[in-house]
Amino acid sequence: MILIIDFGSQYNQLIARRIREQHVYCQIEPPGVELSKIRSLAPQGIILSGGPASIYEKNSPKVDHQIFNLAIPILGICYGMHYMIDSLGGKVDSAAKREYGLAELEILDQKGIFYGINTVTHCWMSHGDSTSLLPEGFNITASTENTKIAAVEDHKKTLYGLQFHPEVAHTPEGKKMLGNFLFRICSSKKTWTMKSFIGKAIQEIKAEVGEKKVILGLSGGVDSSVTAVLLNRAIGKQLTCIFVDNGLLRKGEGERVKGLFKRHLEMNLRFINARKKFLDPLKGVVDPERKRKIIGRTFIKIFEDEASNIRGVGFLAQGTLYPDMIESRSAFGGPSAVIKSHHNVGGLPKKMRLRLIEPLRHLFKDEVRALGKELRLPDDMIYRHPFPGPGLAVRIIGEVTAQRLSILRQADDILITEIKKSNYYQRLWQSFAILLPLKSVGIMGDKRTYEHIVVIRAVTSLDAMTADWAKLPHSLLVRISNRIINEVRGVNRVTYDISSKPPSTIEWE
Ligand code: XMP
Repeated sequence: MILIIDFGSQYNQLIARRIREQHVYCQIEPPGVELSKIRSLAPQGIILSGGPASIYEKNSPKVDHQIFNLAIPILGICYGMHYMIDSLGGKVDSAAKREYGLAELEILDQKGIFYGINTVTHCWMSHGDSTSLLPEGFNITASTENTKIAAVEDHKKTLYGLQFHPEVAHTPEGKKMLGNFLFRICSSKKTWTMKSFIGKAIQEIKAEVGEKKVILGLSGGVDSSVTAVLLNRAIGKQLTCIFVDNGLLRKGEGERVKGLFKRHLEMNLRFINARKKFLDPLKGVVDPERKRKIIGRTFIKIFEDEASNIRGVGFLAQGTLYPDMIESRSAFGGPSAVIKSHHNVGGLPKKMRLRLIEPLRHLFKDEVRALGKELRLPDDMIYRHPFPGPGLAVRIIGEVTAQRLSILRQADDILITEIKKSNYYQRLWQSFAILLPLKSVGIMGDKRTYEHIVVIRAVTSLDAMTADWAKLPHSLLVRISNRIINEVRGVNRVTYDISSKPPSTIEWE
């Protein structure tokens, strides 16, 4: 494995992605990580990441100096390189010429990190500090016009530094550079695959769970579904999944989950029809936050009641992913890292005195999808758009009623069917319908109508932090609109939401 020390750069997860893509396992740890832990992880190489601090600032983040005495190859990137230079007797100052953006990189030494790369290439710079004095034993291996010391190495001690960011797409040969560090310098092997992960994960789950029982809140989304199937492989009937039908689901959702998990995979699934328990307290409620709170509280109550009926439960399983784990650590977090309360079951384990089991906690989303494929989950499950915990309730503006839910469900189903037919589904982050409580005048078959308005929302995004409205072809929008107005009773107008995030959010409530 490769250990990445997190000095706080916005690109840290990208370093990890670039390494995992090359089938080498890596783990991100805060600078406060103890030497004993580093030793027990036994990394083949260490990467010191970039970060926003300047090395000469008083409280700049630091990792135990002893890492330079472990005889493990180390690659420092940007701040990580400054840390290495400064620790080993060199000097880093505020640069006379700051460098941000794309720069031409002249490679002076094509061995080591730059093996097989042309002498002139490009790199992505983002720094205000530069190395002014090299420690003994170091050579310059690449330069740019503004930054003479753009890359360094002490070949004998296998220490390497890059002033630029090899992990970003703007450094076209960056993946190769990281590959050279992994395979030529650290002698890593390409052993990280989801197939190898399954075997190890199953062993770990078995050892941790023992004879105890595990419960899991199944939502039908990709993370909880993959967690369920993996746990099922490991502990079979010791796992009970709880699926709560809150009456706010998309068309056919409950049946789909039952069909796959209960009938096809023959798993222990408690399917709870709690529609009335959710819809009753939502009567007359219009405020979006109140809706969300009522739904959250009701879910926890129902989940707890159901779980308390199962004897011998020791664990609550959750589909927490690696980005959630990293982001929930304090910036330069020490050992007392706080894990953020998660989705709809946050707060449950503490109250129920259950231990958490999170078998996906080291995986990125695309790895979870690959894992799902390896576990033979259907594509339809693996490539699903995210769906919010409060469900259709936050897509019905105003009061949620059974009639409005029925209208929205039909419209949403038509939208998704048409988007899938046109092969747009996988190109979108999300697509869904929203029901407005307003009515507008229309004309159908020579008769005046006065009916509801359906809004179509389709967005592209990488991580839901920002999103853009999708430029769907007009012919597709025509089909969706025609079908909704013709087939869904109670709707006579369809509009398309052309707002990006920010300033709008993806969901309407
Ligand atoms: P917004 O509307 O804030 O949504 O732009 C960002 C992403 O989060 C999803 N979302 C939720 N997911 N529980 C969830 O599990 C929720 O309460 C929730 N609210 C929003 C939303 O669908 C989008 O992908």
